[in-house]
Amino acid sequence: MRTKILCLSTSMLWALLAIPGCNPSVPDTPTFEDDVEPILFANCVRCHRDPPQNGAPIRLDTFEAARDNSGGIVTRVKLDRDDPRFMPPNTELVLSDRQIEIIENWRATGSQAGPRSLVGTSKPKVIASVDGSSYRDAVIVGYELARPDGGEVYGSVHVIDEDTGASFVLAEGLASGSGEVVWELDDYVGGAYEIVFELDNGIDIFTVSAGVLTVPSPQ
Ligand code: HEC
Repeated sequence: MRTKILCLSTSMLWALLAIPGCNPSVPDTPTFEDDVEPILFANCVRCHRDPPQNGAPIRLDTFEAARDNSGGIVTRVKLDRDDPRFMPPNTELVLSDRQIEIIENWRATGSQAGPRSLVGTSKPKVIASVDGSSYRDAVIVGYELARPDGGEVYGSVHVIDEDTGASFVLAEGLASGSGEVVWELDDYVGGAYEIVFELDNGIDIFTVSAGVLTVPSPQ
């Protein structure tokens, strides 16, 4: 948590440079509240919610549900990405290695709930949906931004090239509620790109990855 805040205040000054350099180490004993919940919300909860969507059989949007399914979660995200049981079920989008390691450490250390971070109920949440099915033209990044206490959240979306570490701001000025950002792919070479949200609740800034997307090379 301390590392996160440090990197984030740097990234406010050098938004383009700081995010790729902002690579806090994986916590030894991650907690649901601080580490796992943001990953599940950004990458899984658009389907695994209440009620579950798109044929998903379970919810993963509460601590209890995630703890009770932690074995399945670890198994599914670590499968070969060609495996039909791989999660998330879209072969172009995967969790980053760091995210997978966090979930594995969380389960291995007893799937702890908290303690809740200092900001408590003002902690922003993003439910993201990255749709690469219209590749060659554009990637649609959907988002739902909210705070449990109903307060405002502001945010921006960044794209980081996994190979070079270069990044750019895809969209700024996001606010509480839902919306869509379109990433036009005209100028991009094939490769792996991480989609990262920066969320601001007026107290802290939180960096949340919505996973790594493989963009095919132009023909
Ligand atoms: C686009 C919708 C969608 C997204 C996003 C998604 N899932 Fe799923 N998930 C499904 C569907 C559909 C099934 C049922 C088919 C199957 O078991 O493969 C499922 C099944 C599962 C199961 C097995 C549940 C059980 O008890 O049978 C787990 C565990 C799981 N998903 C974890 C995840 C995790 C972790 C993520 C995020 C990294 C994720 N899913 C993202 C749709 C989704």
